[in-house]
Amino acid sequence: MSEPLIRKCVVPAAGLGTRFLPATKTIPKEMLPIVDTPTLQYIVEESVSAGIEDVILINGRGKSCIEDHFDLAVELEAVLKARGKVEELRSLRAISEMANIVSVRQKEPLGLGHAVLCAKSLVGGEPFGVILGDDIIDAEEPAIRQLALAYHKHKKGVVALMEVPAEETHLYGIAAGERLDARTIRVSQIVEKPKQNPPSNLAVIGRYVLPPSVFPILETQERGVGGEIQLTDALARLAKTEGLIGYQFEGRRYDAGDKVGYLKANIAYALKRKDMRGPLLAYLRQVVEEAERA
Ligand code: G1P
Repeated sequence: MSEPLIRKCVVPAAGLGTRFLPATKTIPKEMLPIVDTPTLQYIVEESVSAGIEDVILINGRGKSCIEDHFDLAVELEAVLKARGKVEELRSLRAISEMANIVSVRQKEPLGLGHAVLCAKSLVGGEPFGVILGDDIIDAEEPAIRQLALAYHKHKKGVVALMEVPAEETHLYGIAAGERLDARTIRVSQIVEKPKQNPPSNLAVIGRYVLPPSVFPILETQERGVGGEIQLTDALARLAKTEGLIGYQFEGRRYDAGDKVGYLKANIAYALKRKDMRGPLLAYLRQVVEEAERA
């Protein structure tokens, strides 16, 4: 691959995952599988396919198994080798060779803005990506790469946007601004989870490519919605000073942080597997038929 557009990506993974209790009592929510692969692995794969070399995990207590997942599994590999399981061995190896994974602890749950700020010294003075693990995006061109391209075109920070129904705007950061082309706006307003009068129905989805100048803004960012230091509030200030781009990415997004969204992602990704598609489709048809008869 030619020179990467961005080299570093921050992945906040310090949340408690309370929506998925009891599963998340001992398993970090980032390790819950979609089909047979932890959600976080999809995120790391997206980063790598966009040419990103360093993935900076913002980690919390009790989450060290995330690091183990991206490390060598010496004993397991020895067993697979002895049993001649070549394919399994290859795919296991590939996970540990995928990227440089480094992690930083977010010592207090002070919000997404604070989580990103924890990566300041590791990011240094270059533009970087942020990917939120709850948002799984299935796209031909990795979503973070689409944003990185927009960053290089406009020389401004970029947030991923998606249209949502009006009744869902209170669940997201919402952005509005002047339209530059079919996918792009120049953001003039961005508000975290507006309770009323959302400026549009364009929701911020968990992909960002940001300039390092966002760090000093985050350092002085006051607490916002939920008493947390919000990335969205810092981006509102960035929009006023340097400018900010909103980019409606191509691809299908799954909200893996929501139980129904998580199940949808599982079904969609299972249907993409040759060995699973037939039997799963037959079962889904049967379920629909039964539900319609009931
Ligand atoms: C975060 C952001 C929000 C964004 C959302 C996308 O919120 O703060 O602006 O719209 O991710 O998933 P969260 O869902 O983590 O509360």
